[in-house]
Amino acid sequence: MSPVRQRPSPSAARLSRRIESRRARIAVIGMGYVGLPLAVEFAQAGFTVTGIDLNARRVARLMAGRSYIQDVPTAELRGLVRSGRLTATTDFSVLRRADVVSICVPTPLSKQRDPDVSYIVAAVAQVKKHVHPGMLVILESTTYPGTTDELILPELAETGLRVGRDFFLAFSPERVDPGNPVWHTRNTPKVVGGVTPACTEVAVALYRQRLERVVPVSSPQVAEMVKLLENTFRSVNIGLVNELALLCRRLKIDVWEVIEAAASKPFGFMPFYPGPGLGGHCIPIDPFYLSWKARASGFEARFIELAGYINGQMPEYVANLAIQALGQRGTAVRGARILVLGMAYKADIDDVRESPSFDIMKTLEDAGARVEYSDPFVPSLDYFGRRMKSTPLTPRALRRFDCAVIATAHRSFPYGLILRHSKIVVDSRNALRGRRSSKIVRL
Ligand SMILES: NC(=O)c1ccc[n+]([C@@H]2O[C@H](COP(=O)([O-])OP(=O)(O)OC[C@H]3O[C@@H](n4cnc5c(N)ncnc54)[C@H](O)[C@@H]3O)[C@@H](O)[C@H]2O)c1
Repeated sequence: MSPVRQRPSPSAARLSRRIESRRARIAVIGMGYVGLPLAVEFAQAGFTVTGIDLNARRVARLMAGRSYIQDVPTAELRGLVRSGRLTATTDFSVLRRADVVSICVPTPLSKQRDPDVSYIVAAVAQVKKHVHPGMLVILESTTYPGTTDELILPELAETGLRVGRDFFLAFSPERVDPGNPVWHTRNTPKVVGGVTPACTEVAVALYRQRLERVVPVSSPQVAEMVKLLENTFRSVNIGLVNELALLCRRLKIDVWEVIEAAASKPFGFMPFYPGPGLGGHCIPIDPFYLSWKARASGFEARFIELAGYINGQMPEYVANLAIQALGQRGTAVRGARILVLGMAYKADIDDVRESPSFDIMKTLEDAGARVEYSDPFVPSLDYFGRRMKSTPLTPRALRRFDCAVIATAHRSFPYGLILRHSKIVVDSRNALRGRRSSKIVRL
């Protein structure tokens, strides 16, 4: 089949000119971990940006110039808000005047662990009310291949506007790695796939204004699949090392030493590390978007399901290491006091979404332990409907516990102090590497 040739669209040319001259008005729907840093980048590039969020508290904080995302410094945000480059609102009617709208809403799983695209659907319903000739719509939320074409395009096309001529539609996955000091929105290459070549062209033109490298691909499906491949790649490799960690414990081999030595191979190997399980909004969730899509097309994605199964067992495995260690030292888990170190799902950030620490705590509590947590990034949290506060790490406080479990290797944890004053330390992250003590139980 020969490709359908489209005549150059005057709307595309006009939009590209507005983008290149920074006169294009940009709206970002969803001011979270992804949307806020993106809005800040566009504002810094000289665009006028409006963040739209349903959460009125977030909007009020933004308008007061106060950041709630660790990677966005308040000083930077305040300057942009004061200069009028960045504003925030709960009112979607601003879309009427927007040239570009980027959708960065959550894509969680339903209770049945199927994709929950209701946030995308709700955002698109708002865009549909205000879509107009010359508008570029980009979805950035992680989702299954086909979402842009099957879910968004038919909605927007119902307005009578033609994609690629009147309005433009693309998918561009967000790759932000919260807390990463080297790779951030600006220097992480951006993959872009438009519904038509004109759609890709204008979306590429937009990101080129600020991002260092843009990687165009042939369709939204490819761009959607790229993101899922990246996250599935991580999930599967973490599943593999987690399985290897369980085997190594049985064989009395130090898995951490094995991985470090294997990583000396300069080609064909990439180190992944075992741990207490997956957390965050991406790796535990996104592969299930892909396996759902696979199932819907009659295909069984076995690697993905198996990695999900192995990784899903890890919190319980780590909790059981603590229970066993207590038993070996003559302390019953029932009534034992256990301190979980780190609630954030990874080091040096404050995000507790999907954190395996919750499951570790739950397993220990179900076994009768009295559990507290300590995390300098998470002063308090909601634990299954109960408010908990972070326990400060003092020698006296540490001595109160029968066991400490390192679930997250925050760099600021005082590891020497923890080891000195704890009776047992279960280390699921190799945070105590290089230290020798009979108190340490390494994963
Ligand atoms: N957090 C990450 O590290 C990361 C990295 C890459 C990709 N992603 C993907 O990006 C997307 C967004 O994730 P996030 O971490 O930024 O989520 P988040 O929960 O931090 O932020 C989402 C924001 O969207 C708002 N919102 C929800 N529905 C809305 C609607 N209909 N209209 C307006 N606002 C709405 C929420 O109030 C919230 O402020 C997800 O698909 C996620 O998988 C996240």
